[in-house]
Amino acid sequence: MKVLITGGAGFIGSNFVHYWRKNHPQDEIVVLDKLTYAGNLENLVQVKDQIQFIKGDICDEATVEQAMANVDTVVHFAAESHVDRSILEPDAFIKTNVLGTHVLLKAVLKHKVKRFHHVSTDEVFGSIALGSKEKWTETSPYNPRSPYSASKAASDHLVRAYFHTYGLPATISNCANNIGPYMFPEKLIPLAITNLLEGKKVPIYKPGNQVREWLYVEDHCSGIEAVLQKGRAGETYFIGPNNPELTNLEVIQKVLVLMKAGDNMIEYVKDRPGHDQKYALDHSKITQELGWRPKFGLDEALRLTVEWYRRNEDWWRRVKSGEYQKYYQQQYG
Ligand code: NAD
Ligand code: DAU
Repeated sequence: MKVLITGGAGFIGSNFVHYWRKNHPQDEIVVLDKLTYAGNLENLVQVKDQIQFIKGDICDEATVEQAMANVDTVVHFAAESHVDRSILEPDAFIKTNVLGTHVLLKAVLKHKVKRFHHVSTDEVFGSIALGSKEKWTETSPYNPRSPYSASKAASDHLVRAYFHTYGLPATISNCANNIGPYMFPEKLIPLAITNLLEGKKVPIYKPGNQVREWLYVEDHCSGIEAVLQKGRAGETYFIGPNNPELTNLEVIQKVLVLMKAGDNMIEYVKDRPGHDQKYALDHSKITQELGWRPKFGLDEALRLTVEWYRRNEDWWRRVKSGEYQKYYQQQYG
């Protein structure tokens, strides 16, 4: 089987490339990635001779045409993915996440690709009130509230439209917050770990009581694998952890303990505009229908993530130089 992985040089995409190489060594892998600030060929260095890498933009029809040749399956990760950047500069989010997905869908249809898997997010469903026990299901209404989540919602709608209108064999997964190796240190957990390793404080958006669900990235990869192998075309599956509900502050306190740092290393900073309070997924459909369940609990996921950043200081120090400095200044002052 020939698998095209878009965004395969980013955080989750590169973890998926490694996962697929290990578990499906007979498959041919093509990675299409624009190498934006979030894309990094160092993430693929161990497999560089075993995959085909195409540097290119999913918005560019000619490049996508070339990448799609003889492909059986597309796993679509490529996106602008950071909410705070979408608030500062939304244009790239609309272009890549909406138009780029549309360019891919047209090519998938033309090349009669057997499966298009679209990687999406829980954020498309909006925000749950703190204290509420509500959990979203795959049929919950969409209510995106940031330019990022609105662009992902639009892409989900396009994928479903192509399934219903043209019979394009598509599946969608909406996943919770991931953590693990190769995560760009603009997101809360790797930002916290790398700041602490640099002796800097962890910025928590006031008041720190927002709730996220944290999934180890390898579990996300195995969830997508289950959908590719056993999921039905036209269906959507949630992928999420089985962890107790924790606020951002409580999760950061776990990181502080792992890194032997005190609460004095927390710095409360101004809140994100339109900050979604809480996400919570009911992922019983993928468990019941496909037999998937997460393998990693939160404590193990955090421990493995902290260990990875400790061992890979060269990686994150390089990532935190250059363009990152400009963004950090703009975001945190
Ligand atoms: P990331 O920002 O780390 O990586 C995105 C990758 O896409 C980068 O390699 C980048 O170079 C590439 N890319 C961006 N624009 C492109 C374009 N126009 N053409 C080709 N490549 C382009 O993102 P991530 O955190 O790995 O997220 C991957 C996917 O998973 C996204 O679709 C995101 O919405 C979704 N998702 C992420 C999370 C999470 O916690 N990070 C959770 C749920 C869903
Ligand atoms: O839920 C899935 C989503 O998770 C993905 O679709 C996105 O691509 C991914 O970026 C992530 O979005 P979040 O906004 O939830 O992740 P982030 O790490 O940016 O923030 C997590 C929580 O921590 C959120 O409540 C905001 C807060 N936060 C974040 C940063 C960067 C802080 O308190 N301080 C910070 O400096």
